[in-house]
Amino acid sequence: MSLNTAAAPTHAEPDAAAIAAADPDSSDVTSTATNAHGYHNFALGEFSFSRDEYFAYVIWPTGQHVMSVDAFLRAIQRDVAWDFFYGIVNFDGVFGTMNHYGTVDLFAGRYNDAYRKAELDHMENVETPIIRDTFTAIIKDWTNEGFDPFASPAETGSAFGPKSGNNDAAVTRQRVTAARMVGLPGDEQPRSDGSGFPVNRHFVDVSQEEPQVNPEPGYEDRVAGFSLKAYLSRSDVTWNPSVVSVCRDSLMCPTTEEYILPIIHGNDRSEWFIQLSDEITWEVEDRDTGRKRATVVAKAGDVAAMPADIRHQGYSPKRSMLLVWENNSGEIPELLNSGQVKPQPVDFE
Ligand code: PHB
Ligand code: FE
Repeated sequence: MSLNTAAAPTHAEPDAAAIAAADPDSSDVTSTATNAHGYHNFALGEFSFSRDEYFAYVIWPTGQHVMSVDAFLRAIQRDVAWDFFYGIVNFDGVFGTMNHYGTVDLFAGRYNDAYRKAELDHMENVETPIIRDTFTAIIKDWTNEGFDPFASPAETGSAFGPKSGNNDAAVTRQRVTAARMVGLPGDEQPRSDGSGFPVNRHFVDVSQEEPQVNPEPGYEDRVAGFSLKAYLSRSDVTWNPSVVSVCRDSLMCPTTEEYILPIIHGNDRSEWFIQLSDEITWEVEDRDTGRKRATVVAKAGDVAAMPADIRHQGYSPKRSMLLVWENNSGEIPELLNSGQVKPQPVDFE
């Protein structure tokens, strides 16, 4: 028997090459000249987007919406870097995207009972490359020098004010995705001071000891080990699951969290959360209406299965370590929609 050395790609895997090739200057992108604050306005289908010193505005034929621009930039940053993620990325209770893996729904009020009942909701389906280029253009244009949408608010500058420089190095950052596992030859490697990843201020007590691994000759390519806690203690971003190991469709996606998850994630599959340190409070709502379902307080060592029919947003009062376990199979949304599998992965009866 031979080990499967390359993970079979599935359509849900973000396409790193496509993200890197997103072109904000593409003819796909509709923008106007700069406004009085120095920012361009953008349009996609019947949606239009603008920002001033404090706010982002979204306008569609039946309504309009305003968000604090720091929250808007943190949300659009995840959408761009994760290539629209699994299922729904709600920027807040009104505006967001739903991934159909090749096309994306852009919506306002679609998953909000009150907007639906008042018939103020609007949704358009767009080709992924077009929304990818447009969202990349927006985040590059609207992010000022010194503001990093992936950083915790305590570790970055201000998003506000008139147009002032840019932070392209931060907003075009690629998500870490190991092909097999961190530490294997040719794959992602553990972090160090030398590679530009110092220990975070909240993790100075985390041991930096690495395991000793002595593979038998001939197995050097297949056997490796690394300290996950040391690895996470050196993460410079928040709310950005990286893939550290891949076993077919089973992805281990740990992340470090601080302040608020900048999106309300509407699942299209269940996800397991293992709280590795500290504490996160999760607000859990019905995915389609936004009705409250639960508050889950996850303390170090707690394990939770988040069902496929909810949306959730996490609050982490200090930097914490969370392991998200994803099933990356492209078949899951259809299995759920057709009722062949239940939205919850386990029943406790
Ligand atoms: C999630 O929606 O499941 C999620 C997203 C980002 C994180 C953690 C969890 O950092
Ligand atoms: Fe989620």
